[in-house]
Amino acid sequence: MPLQYMNNRSDRPEKPDREGTVRDDEGSRQGIDAAPWWQTGVVYQIYPRSFQDSNGDGVGDLPGITARLDHLAGLGVDAIWVSPFYPSPMKDFGYDVSDYTDVDPLFGTLGDFDRLLAAAHERGIAMIVDWVPNHTSDQHPWFLASRAGRDGPKRDWYVWRDAKPDGSLPNNWLSSFGGPAWTWDPRTRQFYLHSFLKEQPDLNWRNPDVRRAMLGTLEFWLERGVDGFRIDVAHAVMKDPDLRDNPPAPAGSRVLHKDVGPYGTQLHLYDRGHADTHGVYREVRRLLDRYGGTRQRVSIGEIHLFEPADLVSYYGADLDELHMPFNFTLLSVPWSAEAVRRTVDAMEAALPRGAWPNWVLGNHDESRVASRVGPAAARSAMLLLLTLRGTPTLYYGDELGMEDVPVPPELAQDPWGKNVPGLGLGRDPQRAPMPWDGSSNAGFTRTGVRPWLPLPPDAATRSVEAQTASPDSMLALTRSLLAMRRAHPALQRGSYRPVSDAPAGVFAYQRELGRDHLLVLVNFESGPALVRLAGQIHRSLVSTHGAPVVRDGTCALRPHEGVVLERG
Ligand code: NOJ
Repeated sequence: MPLQYMNNRSDRPEKPDREGTVRDDEGSRQGIDAAPWWQTGVVYQIYPRSFQDSNGDGVGDLPGITARLDHLAGLGVDAIWVSPFYPSPMKDFGYDVSDYTDVDPLFGTLGDFDRLLAAAHERGIAMIVDWVPNHTSDQHPWFLASRAGRDGPKRDWYVWRDAKPDGSLPNNWLSSFGGPAWTWDPRTRQFYLHSFLKEQPDLNWRNPDVRRAMLGTLEFWLERGVDGFRIDVAHAVMKDPDLRDNPPAPAGSRVLHKDVGPYGTQLHLYDRGHADTHGVYREVRRLLDRYGGTRQRVSIGEIHLFEPADLVSYYGADLDELHMPFNFTLLSVPWSAEAVRRTVDAMEAALPRGAWPNWVLGNHDESRVASRVGPAAARSAMLLLLTLRGTPTLYYGDELGMEDVPVPPELAQDPWGKNVPGLGLGRDPQRAPMPWDGSSNAGFTRTGVRPWLPLPPDAATRSVEAQTASPDSMLALTRSLLAMRRAHPALQRGSYRPVSDAPAGVFAYQRELGRDHLLVLVNFESGPALVRLAGQIHRSLVSTHGAPVVRDGTCALRPHEGVVLERG
């Protein structure tokens, strides 16, 4: 039986080494108007290559996702975001799109897509697709036409520049995936710009025809019925029109949340995030709003900005741009109560009035949360993700506590890790196939087929099947948390208020809406902590550790335990 709403049990608490009191005052109240689905819901990211293979080629596909929708319905998520499944030479595993309005045969057909969408909707699950506006594949017909000749009608659809008089590159911009952002085209004797691989040339969004064509690709999927878009490197589309050199980053500074090698030695002032980017998203928003009807279509932008004030500008001055710029701030913080609370509070404080927050602990570009924070803390990290104010995005497999799966060099796939070696940038470990059951390929693909990346070594015990059978599993906990979230308006759209006098090492906050009033306690430390719950009777809802230990007005938190209590 899955962990469900817990009754108090008289477990003996471990001896606490930290103590503090939490006062349960009246929290601020927020309106209880109905909120749109993307605010109350939980998003689940599927990396399609790694979810479920249906045709025995070792790579996941769209019919595979359809076949596994009942897992997601049973889990209790509200939307899936599916990473790119469009025709692609797969140099960046689908983020190099050669046709925005079709499905790569590796993943299926447009018919398979329609069946997946219909099956998701039947289960009340919305579908968000990936949109990659910054760059295409170098095999996209637009780029083939663009590179065919300097005078061709599509030449200006990409960013071409002459060499400097001394033959050198047009400026100092770097590719995120290593080396310069410029590649020489010997036939037409100019450089073209690529913020990522040389096989991913950047579109020229200053050209109105590009804008029209790309917005047309959104309409294609909107007409088919998708519920929204995750927008790849959303802030990169507009660059400095004068292509000025980026200045060097001050010594010792870190421009991204991890060491990315030479790319991190510049301040990326001019190669992304030009003020004109906002106009692009105002236009995208107008388009989505036209399709909104009674159910909004959502835009979620991938934006690697870690200063809350910078990030929130992408909601738009009048909240007329992205519905949500992905909030990656928790990907980089030291996993301590103080640092996490500071991060949450800074984001809450920076949010413009009416803007809706969101939280991310993992995706296909980041080391798995269970590997970053450790398996002991992974359970309370899930509790945190699902109880903070805002839309959570869950990465596939995190409901199983999947960890990074080491990939030997001869099996490495990811071009980033290959191009910039030595920094652990390869993203294969977080893209391991999903383990479903105890069969030889864990149910991911047929017996005897080699999956495109190695399965987790603990697939048999980590699998959905194994964890479904265990009431203490991470899967059972995640289901329980999602059920609790669904049952509590305070968690879906209530206010957030941190509790200031929690003991050191414990992050405590209140979530409240109307009469629904919850207290969340997360112990970040590997020792126990005692929290006194001044003045109120509390009923335990969920604990990461079986049953919360609440007695005589005190909650005894075990190492890395997270609990949710309800005011009685
Ligand atoms: C961000 C995506 O999340 C990543 O996987 C991809 O490699 C780059 N953008 C380039 O599209």
